[in-house]
Amino acid sequence: MDHIRIRGGNSLNGDIRIGGAKNAALPLMAASLLTDAPLTLSNLPHLADITTLANLLVQHGVDIHMEGDHEGRSLTLSAKNITSTTAPYDLVRKMRATALVLGPLVARFGQARVSLPGGCAIGARPIDLHIKGLQDLGAEIELEGGYVNAKTSGRLRGKEIVFPFVSVGATENLMMAASLAEGETRLVNAAREPEVIDLANCLVAMGAQIDGIGTDTLIIQGVEQLGGAHHRVIADRIEAGTYAMAVAVAGGAVRLTGANLDNLGAVAEVLRSAGLSIENGVVENGAAGGQEFISVQRENGRLIGVDVMTDPYPGFPTDLQAQFMAMMTTVNGASMVTETIFENRFMHVPELTRMGASITLHGGSAMIRGVPRLTGAPVMATDLRASVSLVLAGLAADGDTIVNRVYHLDRGYERVEEKLAACGAEIERIKGG
Ligand code: EPZ
Repeated sequence: MDHIRIRGGNSLNGDIRIGGAKNAALPLMAASLLTDAPLTLSNLPHLADITTLANLLVQHGVDIHMEGDHEGRSLTLSAKNITSTTAPYDLVRKMRATALVLGPLVARFGQARVSLPGGCAIGARPIDLHIKGLQDLGAEIELEGGYVNAKTSGRLRGKEIVFPFVSVGATENLMMAASLAEGETRLVNAAREPEVIDLANCLVAMGAQIDGIGTDTLIIQGVEQLGGAHHRVIADRIEAGTYAMAVAVAGGAVRLTGANLDNLGAVAEVLRSAGLSIENGVVENGAAGGQEFISVQRENGRLIGVDVMTDPYPGFPTDLQAQFMAMMTTVNGASMVTETIFENRFMHVPELTRMGASITLHGGSAMIRGVPRLTGAPVMATDLRASVSLVLAGLAADGDTIVNRVYHLDRGYERVEEKLAACGAEIERIKGG
């Protein structure tokens, strides 16, 4: 297995290109199952999770054509000839978002056999809301042998569904299913994440009728058939937030190109409160119009501690909690970080502690007391965002940090060591045995 070595102490200066959002691209790819016409997605990131879902779609019979390179790929997906409505365990267990094929398969083909995803490092992560919502829309569902067996005679039928708590995946799965159901579906207490909005906008481009996009109540008038579309995936706000926090940890001045602060509301305010300067910018590059970027700079002097509590959008995202905690380990003062979305998302804490961080856990909250310096150490990545938080900590640590199991990193971050090295970090990937 590969690992990454970081020698801390260098500041970051230069440009980092922010890719398309992983958590928008995945549901958008699943949406290709809703139509027999081709769906073209551009600005797609080059990530392991995208490959995993593409492999699943191909085994369903989706024809996938890829163009482009690291600077933005496009995929054209055509679900004209679906040969299987089963999503097997060996693919689903690799990446939970594969459960997003459930709604589209039932809505278009009247049946689906999708493996239950099973838990992951950060929590049990059931899909009970997805299943109950499909039953509300008229699907008959049996759980047998670790699989969800869903079927419906005729079309799904629209209904009001009130979520007991916000679920990004359940909102996405049921919005896709409802787009082909008969009649009106209302999704109440729906997720408002930018990735959900991006999916809704793409579905509308395919012919879906969706009102309330961006609010917590989505009203979907089902249609009989959807068509194809060309859709550009939004920039990855979590990748942008991650690199902004890298500047906070290491110091320096960086432009995050291809992204803007629109989808980072609460995060930008928290980072400013800690003492980081972070603003939108536009560079005029002639006829092509300005390319947007986020300008991030940490002047001299240490940042200060700020308390955060994770919350569904537009609150502070759980996917930036580990990175923020790494940032808080070397600030002046203390901070309290409270995780409200997942029940086990503090696995980066013992690893940061091994690097000299001072963190105490109290249930769902972590108290971090800033220390003058971290010291490099061999550390273990456990999940996607915990692994990148260890890279961030390594940027500020004395000596070498070796992050193992970087396959976690590759699921959600494209060429992280190249992007950081290009800005002056001493970081390299060491091919594992
Ligand atoms: C999406 O996961 C993201 N993944 C996650 O990003 C993100 O952390 C999460 O939303 C919250 O923002 C993708 O978009 C592919 P949820 P999802 O349904 O949809 C519980 C990353 O690092 N729940 O909003 O699975 C669930 O266990 C990943 O990129 C149920 O109990 O998240 C969790 O505690 C990690 N039953 C909470 O709700 C259900 O049926 C929120 O989960 C569904 C969810």
